[in-house]
Order: sequence, then C-alpha cells, then structure tokens
Amino acid sequence: MASQLRFDGRVVLVTGAGGGLGRAYALAFAERGASVVVNDLGGDFKGVGKGSQAADRVVEEIRRRGGKAVANYDSVEEGEKLVKAALDAFGRIDVVVNNAGILRDRSFARISDEDWDIIHRVHLRGSFQVTRAAWDHMKKQRYGRIIMTSSASGIYGNFGQANYSAAKLGTLGLANTLSIEGRKSNIHCNTIAPNAGSRMTQTVMPEDLVEALKPEYVAPLVLWLCHESCEENGSLFEVGAGWIGKLRWERSLGAIVRKRNQPMTPEAVKAHWEKICDFDNASKPQSIQDSTGSILEVLSKVDSEGGVAANHTSHAASAATAGFAGAVGYKLSSFSSTYTQLETIMYALGVGASVKDPKDLKFVYEGSSDFSCLPTFGVIIAQKSMMNGGLAEIPGLSINFAKVLHGEQYLELYKPLPTSVYSYSGKELICYNQFSIFLVGSGGFGGKRTSDKVKEAVALPNRPPDNVLTDTTSLNQAALYRLSGDWNPLHIDPNFANLAGFDKPILHGLCTFGFSARHVLRQFSDNDVSRFKAIKARFAKPVYPGQTLQTEMWKEGDRIHFQTKVQETGDVVISNAYVDLLPASATLAKTPSVGAELQSALVFEEIGRRLKDVGREVVKKVNAVFEWHITKGGAPAAKWTIDLKNGSGKVYQGPAKGSADTTIIISDEDFMEVVLGKLDPQKAFFSGRLKARGNIMLSQKLEMILKDYAKL
Ligand code: NAI
Repeated sequence: MASQLRFDGRVVLVTGAGGGLGRAYALAFAERGASVVVNDLGGDFKGVGKGSQAADRVVEEIRRRGGKAVANYDSVEEGEKLVKAALDAFGRIDVVVNNAGILRDRSFARISDEDWDIIHRVHLRGSFQVTRAAWDHMKKQRYGRIIMTSSASGIYGNFGQANYSAAKLGTLGLANTLSIEGRKSNIHCNTIAPNAGSRMTQTVMPEDLVEALKPEYVAPLVLWLCHESCEENGSLFEVGAGWIGKLRWERSLGAIVRKRNQPMTPEAVKAHWEKICDFDNASKPQSIQDSTGSILEVLSKVDSEGGVAANHTSHAASAATAGFAGAVGYKLSSFSSTYTQLETIMYALGVGASVKDPKDLKFVYEGSSDFSCLPTFGVIIAQKSMMNGGLAEIPGLSINFAKVLHGEQYLELYKPLPTSVYSYSGKELICYNQFSIFLVGSGGFGGKRTSDKVKEAVALPNRPPDNVLTDTTSLNQAALYRLSGDWNPLHIDPNFANLAGFDKPILHGLCTFGFSARHVLRQFSDNDVSRFKAIKARFAKPVYPGQTLQTEMWKEGDRIHFQTKVQETGDVVISNAYVDLLPASATLAKTPSVGAELQSALVFEEIGRRLKDVGREVVKKVNAVFEWHITKGGAPAAKWTIDLKNGSGKVYQGPAKGSADTTIIISDEDFMEVVLGKLDPQKAFFSGRLKARGNIMLSQKLEMILKDYAKL
C-alpha cells in the first residue's frame, strides 16, 4: 500500500477557511499532521460584515480531532498579518492556499466601480498580498507550495460574472509567473478551478447538487499539489465531484500572412482565416519560449523566403515538406578562409590552455620552440562555413538559432594543423569534420533518421576510468571562446539564453569538447599534437561557465575513450566519446607544414604579384638584388631571387640572373616566421638561423621588404 501523504512539521495557511472549500482543506491538512492557520474574515458571501465565529468554529473542530490550528480573522487584503499569525504560532510557513472569496454578480452594464474593485481586491489582490508576505520565508527555507483558486467562470466566461471572471483568471496569470520565479527555490505554484457546493454556489445550484458536490471531493487534489513529494508546478486543474482534469493551451499551426517588403493587410488575414483557426495538428505551447521562439522563426522565414508560407512546425502542410527535399544532400558552397597564430592562441585560451601549466605554453606562445595548434581547432575552420551563413542558406529549412542544438561531433586530422594558414594554400586536405546538429522544430521531411556516413559514438569500457583530469572553467569562458567564431548570443546574452529556455548563457559544447581533447592529449601524448588522429563526441547536457569539467579517460590501445562530467553536479555533459591517437612511432616522419611544397614559394609568388603595383617605389628605396637559398630539413631546397634594383623589380625562381648584392640562406620554416613577423631578421642573423653573404648591411632592409607581407 502507498504510504500516507503526511504534513507533519509543515505549517499551512488556508484563507477563507471558515466554511466551504477552505474548511475542507483545513480539516484535511490538520488530519495529516499539519499545523494550520484558519483564516476567515467572517463576512457574508458578498463581502459585507466580519466576525470571528467562522474561523473559530473550524479551529475548534480541528482541535477536537487532535489537530493543531490557530484562527486569524484578518482580510486577505492584509496579507502580512495572516503570515505573521503563522510565524507567531508555529515559527514558519510552508503552504499557502489562496481560497478566500466573495461574489458580486451583476450583468456587465450594471457592475459598479465598487463591485468591480472589491472582487479584485479580495480575489486577486488578496492572493498577491498573502503570497508576497510568505514568499521570502519560502525562498529562504527553499521550500514552498502555493495554491491559487481560479474558476471555470474565468476560464470560459459566465453571464453576470465579468468582474469575478477577470479577477479569477488574473490569479492564473499570477500563478504562471510565480511557478517560474519560484522553481529555483523549490516553490511550486498551481491553480485549481473547483466545483463544489457551498454558500457561494447555493444561489446558483439546485439544492441536491450543492449537497452532492462535496468540498471533500476537491481537497485531496489540493493536498497532493501541496505535498513535498509533488513535482507539479505551474499547472491548472479543473476539479469536482471526485473527478480531476488538467488544462493546457493549444495553438493552431496558424499561417504567415505577410510577404517580405510588403505591407501586411487585413485582406491577407481574411484570406488565411480558415488556416489561422484550424486546430488540426495544433501545437501545445508550454512556455513563453515556445511562444516567442516561433515568432522569431516567422521573422527569419519571411526574411529568407519572402513568401506566404505554411507553418514551420513539424508535420507541416505538404507545401512545406516539398521544400525539404532540397535540404537532403545539399552541398554548402565552398569558401576560403585564413587564420594566423592569433586565432590558434585565442582558441587555445578559449578551451582552457593556460600559462599555469608550463606544458601548455606551446599552445599560447608563438615564440615557443614547438609552438603548436591544438588539433580540435580543426572544428573552428569548418564551423566558419556554417556561421558565415551556410546553415541559413540550406533550402527548405528555416532555422531558429535559439533552437540549434549540437548533437555530435567528429573530427579527423590528416596532418597536424599548421599554426597559420593562407587562403591560397587550401589545395591540400587538412581535416575532416562531421557535425550532427538538431534543428529543433525544423524537421518533418521523413526519410532516414541517420546516415551510413555517420561516425558512430562508442560505448565506454565497463570499468572505472584509468585517468581523470579536471579544469575549472572561468566565468568568462564562453565570452572568450566565442572569439574563435561561434558568435551565437546563446552563450553570452542572458535574455537570449532565457528565450532558448536556459536560466543563463551556456558554454559552447565545442568549448567543453576542446577542454576534454586537451585533457586526453596531456594525459596520453604529452601534448604532442602530431599524435592526434581523430575525435568523436556526443553532447549530452549544457555546461555553465564557471563549472568544473572532469574528463574521465580509458585507454584501449591507441583509442582513448572518454566522457566529461560537470564536477559540481555529476552530470555527464559529453558521453560515449573517444580520441584516436597515432602510435608514437608513426608520427616521427610528420612535420607540421602546409604541404610537400615549400611554404616560402607561395610567399615569393605573392611578393612578385604585389611588386607589380608598387615595384618602382620599392626599387627606389632598396636598390639591391637578393638571392635566397631556402633549405628544408637542413638541405638546399630552392633558390629565389628578389630583384629590387632594376626597372620595377622582379621576383623569380632560381639564382640571380646578374649578380646578387646579398645572398640569404634560411630554412623554409624560418622564412615563414620572418614573413609572419614572428622572427626578427636581425635577431635571426645574430642567432645563426639566417645566414647572409655579400652586402650584409643590406639585410637590414629585409624587414622593410617583408614587413608588408606579414599581413598576408
Ligand atoms: P465560501 O463562501 O464557502 O468560502 C469563502 C470563504 O472566504 C468564506 O468563509 C468567507 O468568509 C471568506 N472570505 C471572504 N472574503 C474574505 C477576505 N477578504 N478575507 C478572508 N476571508 C474571506 O465559498 P467556496 O465555494 O468555498 O469558495 C472558495 C473559493 O473557491 C473561492 O475563491 C471561490 O471563488 C472559489 N470557487 C468556488 C467554486 C465552487 O463551486 N464552490 C467554483 C469556482 C471557484
């Protein structure tokens, strides 16, 4: 048998408990161990007069049955006094049942100001006053249960009750917001619309119905909703005669009646009226996010399609589904992109690399001898294509960016990522990315739910992890990470995050991903990026900046399985993930270069192109011929000549056709460093990394020649 729902130690305040429903609640709570404040003003059902009898009688009844209760005779308009009565008598307040009420029924035209005001003062303002007085106590003790009493009259309207209907539905609006504001503090607020025989209903109900619809058939719902084990919050119930039903909102799919750059007209509304009012396949919005989210979607839909369109929601009309066909197999247009050490360092900081750990220096300091790019930077390159409008350009999909969820990520590197890449060196395949993204509310096009191209997530070994590394993210983690290119306001703008259904901005899933991959590299490859082959991860839950990430790792050969948890909550945020490493021996032959060709060749070509415009001027300033001997792996690899002495200057491969004023010998890598401004040619000369023959003084002009090209 289920154990009895008890209220021992709980303090319950029931307003208007001198009779009718309130009395039934008070008796039932007391019977189950609660200490009860029986409040009642003691007037008539129209709110005239007052007295202590009504409340006293119920208190007596409770005490007679061995329960604990005190009376209070104040009007609910003086909420503070009611709550004070609870605190004075029992030291706390756990439950408030806003039940007190009166009637001033009149057909609308005959409602006086007083009839209007008193109904609002007792029902709506009274509920506000009493609840507000209890609110802070509930917040402090992180516990509270509140009942609002509405009415079918408010929900559906009722002849002669305009004042009462308005006030009663007002209590529902109040409850809706309290349920949201209280949630964090374990304060739940629900609303009931009861049906019971009482002195209030005896004027409108036949006598035998008044008898039959006992308040005792309503009280059990109130008790359940107010029990500590009840998770219900923000809901509305109709209840009576032993039956209970829950209500919710329904919204038709509706229609967009506006075209881009055209005025919206009443005629267009009329033309779509049937569709606007058609409840087939209706949605059931549950929150303001559901409501505003689809409004934002409409904006982007009108913007992108410019046409009158069917609704966005899944199962939308066939006119819309036809459009989805274009999305399946759609190829994003190609794009070129560049990055420099600035981006790679920013990324490393974004995913938590820190000077605190000397082994991380290679990721955040371009002057490190083994300056490296974190392998997971590979996702940033691919992401750019989506963030730069790629997603929005997919035909047939309308995307609300507040509803984009990153499901899974796979990344494979074909070689270590260079620390900088030029737009014109993109011929070689560097990495492969696979993003699985949920576009909430954009589906409905049928077909397979997955693809054979999907790199599957893999279950974790069934044993405790071999290694665990943790890192506490900073409050600014998302603010820093987004500089790497994911500008979605979800990660920084509290209002936008609320719209998307989060309490506050969340960390980028790919930021956590970067942290975890770093942990794996540190643990199993001593931060050697050349051993990184591939990573697969599934995003399971959001992380908030400031939380501590805990990466649990299992080594199985060269595959490192991992999952990532938020240490504070124990929630798994990345699940069934792995990193594949290359065997240590396999990486020796690899060097992080852009390709088999020399990087310097591309720069010489570019210098040649630029000289076409400014050659004459530069020749005047420099007046010298430089011959370059580029080495690779210690051996001569290429010769180039930059002639800045004759005509408008010239750059060509091979030794100088006349005589060279200065010959410079430098490795391909160091040449790139000089070009990128990372290596000062003077210093390179003195340290022996750059050798010069002939007129050595001329090498001072190198910086001037090359400086402009650092911005390539
Ligand atoms: P009732 O008239 O038996 O009980 C209401 C109690 O509230 C009375 O004892 C009254 O003295 C007290 N009260 C009135 N003004 C007060 C004030 N300013 N401060 C403190 N106490 C005050 O009526 P019933 O039927 O038990 O109604 C309880 C609640 O349920 C009311 O809010 C009513 O509007 C609502 N309701 C009842 C329905 C029904 O079928 N009985 C239908 C829909 C809603």
